[in-house]
Amino acid sequence: MLRCGVDQIAEAAEAIKSGKLVAFPTETVYGLGADAFNPQAVAAIYAAKGRPGDNPLILHIADPADFNNLAENPPQYTKKLIEKFWPGALTLVVKKKPNLPAWLGGHPSGQTETIGIRIPANPIAQAIIKASGCVVAAPSANTAGRPSPTTAQHVLDDFASELGIAVIDGGSVNLGIESAVVDATGETPVILRPGQVTADMIQAATGINLTHQANQTHEKPRSPGMKYRHYAPKAPMTILKGTSENIAAYIKQDKNICILTINDSLPQIQNKINLGNNPEEIAQNLYAALRKCDKLGVTEIYAQAVAEEGLGIAIMDRMLKAAEGRMIHVGQ
Ligand code: TXA
Ligand code: MG
Repeated sequence: MLRCGVDQIAEAAEAIKSGKLVAFPTETVYGLGADAFNPQAVAAIYAAKGRPGDNPLILHIADPADFNNLAENPPQYTKKLIEKFWPGALTLVVKKKPNLPAWLGGHPSGQTETIGIRIPANPIAQAIIKASGCVVAAPSANTAGRPSPTTAQHVLDDFASELGIAVIDGGSVNLGIESAVVDATGETPVILRPGQVTADMIQAATGINLTHQANQTHEKPRSPGMKYRHYAPKAPMTILKGTSENIAAYIKQDKNICILTINDSLPQIQNKINLGNNPEEIAQNLYAALRKCDKLGVTEIYAQAVAEEGLGIAIMDRMLKAAEGRMIHVGQ
């Protein structure tokens, strides 16, 4: 693992240029990056993660001009979104230029018509992308199905045996939950994956109203990643919705059970991890807490539900996936 400095940025950029994989911090979660135009390198990302081949990768760029080299006739509203939210946690899915490789953005054995693009706001990520001169394909740097990594150690925990992967340590990420993925191929944009940039933020900054794509679990969701088991800790997890009193009364106290609390609102419970006192803190801590439960070896996890508004929508999306949809309304 390399603590990030100028030398490490140059080294990481060289590695990407020469077709290797590099894990680096973004403002949302750590990414596992490679030259998006190098089919062997991109195939190596899929192999290292154990990622299904039909799940495309986000292309990371450092210069907004690259968006215009990749996107075919992007709708007018993308201009506004880019102006207000890039660099940042907003991925725009657009039609790709016909002169680009048919597979670009996905697994080299397949074909894609659209590509997801974003400029990350993390200065280390930006410096690596710039120095490499590449468009950098980077999914979250976890093995498929695991919680996304918010520290370099999380990346090492998942890829300990992959000696070829350099990991750039930029400390804990700022945000903790991934970018919002927005379909920008139609007349109006649609949120395919809720994320750090919320529909409310977009509405307030641009006046654009976004809808959330309903029912992401059917066979062919427009953001293929949404149909897979995701973000999951090793122990089964259940979300509890209800008042603190009802949740406290429901929970059996046992050293093998861990409760993820909100606002430290369950003082009577002992085995717990407090996720935070507001949605920003909860987003920052959620994945680390799930990974901590794995380390503790607990056999059951319960998590207090958060209100589904603003960033809470993305948090509940991730929690529900980690819990494979299990949610119990207690005391109602
Ligand atoms: O914050 C983030 O977005 C992080 C950092 C590293 O940038 N990346 C990330 O990548 O979360 P990943 O691969 O774990 O998730 C990407 C999501 C998946 O749900 C994928 O299906 C969707 O974006 N996606 C990517 N390209 C797409 C496309 N062309 N059309 C629809 N969905 C796409
Ligand atoms: Mg991911």
